Amino acid sequence: MQKHRHLFLIGFMGSGKSYWGNKLSAVSGMPFIDLDDQITRQVGKTIPEIFLEQGENGFRILERNQLLQINTLESPTIIATGGGTPCFFDNLDIMKTWGITVYLKATQELLAARLFQQKTGRPLISDIDDPELEAYIQEKLDKRKPFYLKADVVLTQQNGSENLLTALIHVA
Ligand code: S3P
Repeated sequence: MQKHRHLFLIGFMGSGKSYWGNKLSAVSGMPFIDLDDQITRQVGKTIPEIFLEQGENGFRILERNQLLQINTLESPTIIATGGGTPCFFDNLDIMKTWGITVYLKATQELLAARLFQQKTGRPLISDIDDPELEAYIQEKLDKRKPFYLKADVVLTQQNGSENLLTALIHVA
């Protein structure tokens, strides 16, 4: 990997950005950061608290500002973005300028299966009843896909496949 070339993991909630980012970091030695964790640390509030107090628009501005901080990192870093990060402002263009973007693609069925268990801490879906969740995911994914598909690399996930790590190592 070239100097100062970061690796941005993008994709829908539940696509495994943090999970795979951590795994790749462990095998590659590249540092890993999670954009949501950075926001939480900087603001001193959880993501649900930020949504509650500042709304989604306020969160998107904090997210954008945190993304801009990536440029100050000295060494190439793996960054797990939030599911909405590439879909606001010119965040995607910025990421593509500063590194390589990798879309962790997963089917709506796989995402739904995971997100049924992981609604807590995700304010966009925490109040959606299970029967409506799948339709919400489908609609949101359809809107976001045009952004995600502009990634430099698209990696499709099968259920829990370890091959994804091999593919990520190639990209890094
Ligand atoms: C969001 C995804 C979350 C977090 C926030 C909004 C989204 O991150 O940034 O709740 O808009 O999809 P994860 O993708 O890590 O869940």
